[in-house]
Amino acid sequence: MKINGEYYRTIWVKKGDDRVVQAIDQRRLPHRVVIEDLRSAADVAASIREMHVRGAGLIGAAAGYGMYLAALQAPRESEEAFMKVLAADGNSLIATRPTAVNLEWAVQRALREIGCADGIDAKIAAARRTADAIADEDADSCRRIGESGVKLIEEIAARKGGEPVNILTHCNAGWLAFVDYGTATAPVYEAQRRGIRVHVYVDETRPRCQGAQLTAFELGQSNVPHTIIADNAGGHLMQHGMVDMVIVGSDRTTCTGDVANKIGTYLKAVAAHENHVPFYVALPSSTIDWSLRDGVREIPIETRDENEIKYITGINAQGNIETVLITPEGSPAANYGFDVTPARYVTALITERGVCAATEEGIRGLFPHGGAHG
Ligand code: MRU
Repeated sequence: MKINGEYYRTIWVKKGDDRVVQAIDQRRLPHRVVIEDLRSAADVAASIREMHVRGAGLIGAAAGYGMYLAALQAPRESEEAFMKVLAADGNSLIATRPTAVNLEWAVQRALREIGCADGIDAKIAAARRTADAIADEDADSCRRIGESGVKLIEEIAARKGGEPVNILTHCNAGWLAFVDYGTATAPVYEAQRRGIRVHVYVDETRPRCQGAQLTAFELGQSNVPHTIIADNAGGHLMQHGMVDMVIVGSDRTTCTGDVANKIGTYLKAVAAHENHVPFYVALPSSTIDWSLRDGVREIPIETRDENEIKYITGINAQGNIETVLITPEGSPAANYGFDVTPARYVTALITERGVCAATEEGIRGLFPHGGAHG
C-alpha cells in the first residue's frame, strides 16, 4: 500500500545491506513515518514486544525475518551449535506475545526449513528464503481476502442502489497489521478500486488506539471515507441502521470458528447479533489454530502493562509527540489485550480461499488439508 504516494510493505530487507531488516515503527504513526533498522533477533523480539510492529500477520513475518537475522549471527563452528542458538532465539521470539498464532508458526517453519539445509551457508540462505516466503504469502493471502470479501460489499451496495456501504471495523486489521493489503480492510480497498462507494466507521480501540491511529491513517492515505468513533458508539450506530456490516480481523481462530481479536471485538459481535447486522471476520489461514476447538477456554489472552491504559500518547500544539497520564496516578488498571468472539456470533469468515461459515465444517470445506499450518 502507499504512504504519501510511495509504495511500502510493513517489513523488508534493506536495499544494499541484506544484513539489516527494516520496518515501519508503528508507535510513531500517524504523526511520523519512521523506518527502523533491525539488526538481530533480539532487535526483532523487542520491536514485537514493544509493538513497533504488531498485528498477527506482521508479527509472523517479523518472526521470520528475526530467524533470518539469528541465522546471520549464529556461530558457524558446527551445525549443531548453529541450530542450538537458532532454537534459543526462536524461543525468545515466541515468548514476546502469546495470542497471535502466527508467531510460533513462523518460528517453527523457519527452524524446519533451516534444519533441512546442508551446511551453514545453505542454512542462512534457507532462513532468508523462508522469511521472504512468509512475507510474500501473507501479502498474497490478504490480496485474495480482498477479492473474496468484496463480493459481500457488492451485494449490499446493489441493495442500497449505490448509496455508500457503511462498514464498522475494530482495531487495525489493515495493511499495517500484515505485510500488505490487510484483512478487514482488503475488501474495502478492493471495493474502492471497483468504484463501489464505501464509508468506514473506525473504532478508536483503546487502550493503544490502533483504530484511531493506524486504521484511520491507512484509510486516509488511500482516500477511503471514514469516521473515527469512540469504542462505545458502535451499538448505538447499529441500533439506528447506520452500519451495514462489520468486518474485523483475527489473531487466532479455532478450527470451530471462535475468533480471538482485539479486546472489545466480542461486544461488537453481540451488538451486531442483537441488531441483525452481519458480522464478518477476515483472516488468512495462517491465523487458524487447528489444535484448538474452544476459543474462550483455550486461546491464551495477552495481558499488557497497565500504563497503556493510564497514559495516552499524541501530538501537542507544538507538534511534539507527548505521553500524558489520564487517570488518577494511584488507580490500578487491568489491560486485557484480546477477547474471544464465539463462532455463533460470526456471520461468516472471509479467507484467502473464499467465504465460509464459522463452523468446523465450513472451515474444513475450504481447507481440507489444513491451511498455512494445518
Ligand atoms: O495488539 P495488536 O495491535 O497486535 O493486535 C492485533 C490486531 O491488530 C487486531 O486484533 C486485529 O484486529 C487482528 S488482525 C491482525
